[in-house]
Amino acid sequence: MKRPCLLDLVRPEILSLKAYRAEESRPDLIKLDANESPFPLPEDLRLELRLALDRVDVHRYPDPHEDRVRSILAAQLQVVPEALVLGNGSDELIQLLLLATSEPGTTVLAPIPTFSMYELIARVQGLRFEGVPFGARFEPDLPRLIETIERLRPKVIFLATPNNPTGGVFSEAEIFKILAVAPGLVVVDEAYGSYAGQTMLPHLVEQERLVILRSLSKIGLAGLRIGYLVAHPTLAAELEKVRLPFNLNAFSQAAAAVLLNHQEWIDTNVREVVRERAQVMHHLVALPGVEAFPSAANFVLFRTTSPGNVVFDTLLQQGVLVRNLGSVPGLHNCLRVTVGTKAENDRFVEALTTALRQD
Ligand SMILES: Cc1ncc(COP(=O)(O)O)c(C=O)c1O
Repeated sequence: MKRPCLLDLVRPEILSLKAYRAEESRPDLIKLDANESPFPLPEDLRLELRLALDRVDVHRYPDPHEDRVRSILAAQLQVVPEALVLGNGSDELIQLLLLATSEPGTTVLAPIPTFSMYELIARVQGLRFEGVPFGARFEPDLPRLIETIERLRPKVIFLATPNNPTGGVFSEAEIFKILAVAPGLVVVDEAYGSYAGQTMLPHLVEQERLVILRSLSKIGLAGLRIGYLVAHPTLAAELEKVRLPFNLNAFSQAAAAVLLNHQEWIDTNVREVVRERAQVMHHLVALPGVEAFPSAANFVLFRTTSPGNVVFDTLLQQGVLVRNLGSVPGLHNCLRVTVGTKAENDRFVEALTTALRQD
């Protein structure tokens, strides 16, 4: 009997996709490509963490209900623990949301350019992804968004605010307008919300279609891979059925239980990044040949008049790694720089000035 060849076993939707590619780094590079926090743990927190990790029972499965982390988060957010679903990064929660709500052919919508995983995960699940372009300077195009929502009736809408990679936000009024016409869920992705100082959390109670997605990755804990969503407890209970058991490993749970209790460390670092973002922006707008877009996140998107690929390579030759977004539709010659420490940002500005001079 003739058997199908290996690639015939893979679904056509998957064959046509490109894998998510995270840039490889080297220890000698100034790493400003992944929107991480630049601040390592201070020595006293490292010690506390070491003691907590030492007590982890590796021969046992982790707590399946993530009780400690869940109750710390619930108290901080002032929501009931049943409103939370925890994920192995918020990536996993995007997947879980779509698995629980959508079937092949269902439409998922997001303004674009945006975080690439919305589209990738939707396509992997055989869903239809509809991107609605932002305006010329990446401001929300509400009339177009609303027209498309009414026409296509998406099951899930993703609104990243601040948006990655453009850095802009949706105002509360804009989100309410979208909620008013959305036939399905509106997922407000606040992965960078701490840097914008705004949240839709207070509106969860009166808006049952609203789901808020958060991540610990961008506020100093990327290595833990923990994200969470906050939703109406009725919806959260259904999502829990899709969550794989033990999705948060015991080390991550133990570490988060320690570090989430050091909110002042997280907040101080966020404030420092916000201060530095203003400095980076100040330098970028002063550089001839650079157009920088307003950002409420921990990164800044900018476009160069000289070829973005050359600028990217010249930065790399000088030891500075940023994200080259030139191949993303609508982002020709665009690069995204994560806000680092003051020293890292100074090196970036210096390297960019050199790169633009060489062109
Ligand atoms: C808007 C947005 N949402 C979600 C994520 C995923 O974050 P994580 O899976 O690390 O929690 C990212 C990561 O870059 C992002 O930019």
